[in-house]
Amino acid sequence: MANKPVKRLADYKAPAFLISALDLTFELHDTQTRVTAVSTLTKNGTDPLLRLDGEQLELVSVELDGKAVTPRFEEGQLVIEVAKDSATLKIVTQIDPTANTALEGLYRSGGAFCTQCEAEGFRRITYFLDRPDVLAVYTTKVIADKAQYPQLLSNGNLVESGELEGGRHFATWHDPHPKPCYLFALVAGDFDLLEDSFTTASGRDVLLQIFVDKGRRVQARHAMEALKFSMKWDEDTYGLEYDLDRFMIVAVDFFNMGAMENKGLNIFNAKYVLADDDTATDQDFDNIAAIIAHEYFHNWTGNRVTCRDWFQLSLKEGLTVFRDQQFSSDWAGSSATRIKEAQVIRTLQFAEDAGPMSHPIRPLEVAEMNNFYTVTVYNKGAEVIRMLNGLLGKAGFRAGMDLYFKRHDGQAVTCDDFVDAMADANDVDLSRFKGWYRQSGTPVLTVREIWENGHYGLKLSQLTPPTSDQAEKGPLPLPFAIELLGHGKDVLQLQDAEQTFALGQFDEKPILAPLCGFSAPVKLVFEQSDDELAALMEKASDGFVRVDAAERLLQRLVAAWLQGQEHPALELWLRSLHGIATRPLTDAFLDAELFKVPSVNAMQGWFEQIDLDGLVAARQRLRSQVRERLFAVLHDRYQMVKDVKEKGARALTNSLLTLLAEPLEQGVFDRYQQARNMTERQGALAAAVAGDLANSDALLADFAERFEDNPQVMDKWLMLQGQRSGALKRMGKVMEHSAFNWNNPNRTRALIGTFIATNPECHTEAGYQWLSEVLPKLDAINPQATARMVGPLLQWRRFDQKRRQGLEALLKGLQTPHTSADLGELLGKALK
Ligand code: ARG
Ligand code: ZN
Repeated sequence: MANKPVKRLADYKAPAFLISALDLTFELHDTQTRVTAVSTLTKNGTDPLLRLDGEQLELVSVELDGKAVTPRFEEGQLVIEVAKDSATLKIVTQIDPTANTALEGLYRSGGAFCTQCEAEGFRRITYFLDRPDVLAVYTTKVIADKAQYPQLLSNGNLVESGELEGGRHFATWHDPHPKPCYLFALVAGDFDLLEDSFTTASGRDVLLQIFVDKGRRVQARHAMEALKFSMKWDEDTYGLEYDLDRFMIVAVDFFNMGAMENKGLNIFNAKYVLADDDTATDQDFDNIAAIIAHEYFHNWTGNRVTCRDWFQLSLKEGLTVFRDQQFSSDWAGSSATRIKEAQVIRTLQFAEDAGPMSHPIRPLEVAEMNNFYTVTVYNKGAEVIRMLNGLLGKAGFRAGMDLYFKRHDGQAVTCDDFVDAMADANDVDLSRFKGWYRQSGTPVLTVREIWENGHYGLKLSQLTPPTSDQAEKGPLPLPFAIELLGHGKDVLQLQDAEQTFALGQFDEKPILAPLCGFSAPVKLVFEQSDDELAALMEKASDGFVRVDAAERLLQRLVAAWLQGQEHPALELWLRSLHGIATRPLTDAFLDAELFKVPSVNAMQGWFEQIDLDGLVAARQRLRSQVRERLFAVLHDRYQMVKDVKEKGARALTNSLLTLLAEPLEQGVFDRYQQARNMTERQGALAAAVAGDLANSDALLADFAERFEDNPQVMDKWLMLQGQRSGALKRMGKVMEHSAFNWNNPNRTRALIGTFIATNPECHTEAGYQWLSEVLPKLDAINPQATARMVGPLLQWRRFDQKRRQGLEALLKGLQTPHTSADLGELLGKALK
C-alpha cells in the first residue's frame, strides 16, 4: 500500500521559509502542460534548507536567483539549499492534465481545464510549500489555444490579455489578497456565461459571472439569485463585504466534492449550480442555494482568515456550515430544515463516531488529509458553533465574529484563536467549552424526571463512551433546550457530569419535550412513557421533538420485534399518525417528515449491533402496517395536497405516495406521467422503486430516455438503480449504459456509493464479491472518490457474524501494494 506518514497536530512547526509572491505561467496543452513558478522567498528562521512538496510532477528545471541548481530529493520532497535570507526561485515542471483521473491539481473535465488544490493538490502543479500558513500574492498568466479554450480564468482581477502566435492567446490575472496555495484556481474552456452585478454596502460594483456548459445558461439563474442573496445576507448579518471587482463561479461535471471556495473563482460541481423546474427537485434548489452561500461565505471565513494547518479545518468548515445553515433558514427555511440537519448528525456523524474513523472536530492525527473532510469536521463542527451562538446570544456571537476579523484578518490561525475571540469579546471563560474541539465521540445524555409533592425537576447526566481513537472522556458543557407542554420553554446549561434542575410547581406532572431544536449533538436516553411520546409526536411545538418522539416510539417497537415480541408503541404510533392525517393541515413540511418510515440506515443508529435482516423486515412491516391501517385517511390527505402548487405540499405528497405506493400503483404511474416538474416526477419514480412496483422498470426506462442528455438528472436515475431491490443482478447492464462513466465521481458515487450506503443487497456474499472487483478498479482511477464511498463498510464489526467475516475478508482483500494512500488509511484503521 502507498502509505503516507501520519502527521500530528502536536508536531506543528512554523515554515522555514515564507513566500510573499508567486508568479505562475501555464502553457496549457492537453497532455503536456508546462508550469513556470517564480517565488519570492524569505527565510523564516535559520534553517537554510527549503523543502518543497511535489507529487506526480516532471521536473524540468530549477533556478535560484538566476542560477541553475541541481536539487536533491528527500522523502518525496525537493530540497534546495538557500544561503541568503531572501531569494528568487524559478521552477519549471511539466504535467499531464488529461491523465489526471484523481481530479486533484490541474485536470481536464469535459474538455475544459480546471483545478482542485484543497487540501494538498497544488503540489501536483508545481513544487511548493503546500501548507495553508504560507500566504503569497499570486500573478497568473494562462496561455492556451484560443479556439478550444476561449475563456482563461484565474484568481483576482484580469490585468492583461491578448493574442499569441499559432492560434494561441493569453490572460494574466492578479490577486492582491495574499492566500495559501489551496485557494489557487485556474480554468480554461469554452463556456456559456451568465452575468449580473452586485453593489456592495460601501458602493463597490462587483461583476458576477457564472460559467456553465454550452446550452445551459438559463439553468444558472437560480444559482445567481442565491449568490446575490448570499452577498447581501453576509453584509446584513455579519457586516462582511466582498473584496474584489469580480466574483466568478465555474460549474464542472468532473468534481470530487461539492464545490471549492478558490479566491474570486469558485469551482463547483455542476450539480450544485444547474437547475430548472424540469430537471431539479425542490431539494436540489435548496442544496444549490446552500452551497453557493457556503462557498461565498468562505471568502471571509476561510480566505481572509484561513487555517494555520489542516488540523484546524473545522475553523473554516464548521463555521461556514453554520453560516450556510443560518442562511438557509432565512432563504428557504421550513420546519424540515433543522430536522434534516439533525438527521445528518444522528445517522452519519454518530456512525462515524461509532466506527474506526472516530475523530474530534479538530483531529489529532492525519495521514491523507482528504479523508478528513468529514461529517464530524463539517457538520458536528457546525453544531459546536451553533452551541456557541446559543450560549453567547446573537449580539454576543456577532461581537465575537467582529473581534475575530479585527484580530486575524490576513492571518492563518487556529480553532483556539477563534474561541478566544469569542471569549474575549464577551468576557466569558470558554476553556471548558474547548473540550468540544478536543474530544471525539457522542455524549449520551440521560434524563431522569423528579416529581415530588407538586415539584417538577430534572436530573441530567452525561457520559461519552470511549471511541476507537480515544479512551478517556470527560463531561462537556452543553445546552439542553426543553419545552414543558403547555408551560413554556427553557434552556438548561449542563456543565458537569451530573446536575439537578428544579423547574417549579405544577398541578400535574408536565410532559417534557427534550432537546428542542436538537440543541446539542448528543444521544438521548430517557425512559419517557409511550403515551407521552405519542403526545409529543402530535403536540410538541418543536418540529425536531415531534419527529424524534416518533423515532423513539419506533425504536422501542423495532427493538421488541427484533426479539420476536410485540409492543404497544405500534398502536400509539399509528394513532398519532392518524391524528396528524385527519387534523387541519398546518405544516406540510413537518408532516412530510412525520410520514416517512425511518430508513434502515437511521435504524442502524438505534442499536450497537446491526441485525440487518431484522431491520429490513421491520421496516417492511412498518410500511405495510401504515398502508393497511391508515390507507383511507392517508389517501384523503394525498388527494387534498397532490395538486397544490407549493413546495411543502409537494414534499408531503411525495412522502404519502412513497408510503402508499403498493396500493396506489396506478396512481404512482399517473403521477409520474403527468408530473409538472422534477420534484413530482422524481417523487413518483422513487415511490415506484421504494415499493418495488411492477411498473418501475418501465418508468425507469422512460426516465432514462427523457433525460439521457442531462448528466445531473441521470445521476438521479443511477441512484435509484443503486437503491432498488434487485440492483446487484442489473449492475452489469446499468454500467454499460451511456449514463455511467467510471472516470466521473458523480456517476460512480450515484450508482456504487448509493448501493453501498443504502442497499441491503450490498451485504450479501454476492455483494461483497462484486465490491471486491469494483473497488480496486475505482481506487486506481480516483482514490479520493473511492475512499468517500466505503464508510459504511468500515462499520464491519457491528454486523452479524457471517457479514463480519464477509466484510473483513473484503476489506483485507482491498489491502494490496496498489491500494491508494486514501483507501489504505481507512482500511488500516478499520482492520486494526
Ligand atoms: N473547501 C471545500 C468546501 O467546503 C471542500 C473542498 C475539499 N476538497 C477536497 N478535495 N478535499 O466547500
Ligand atoms: Zn467549505
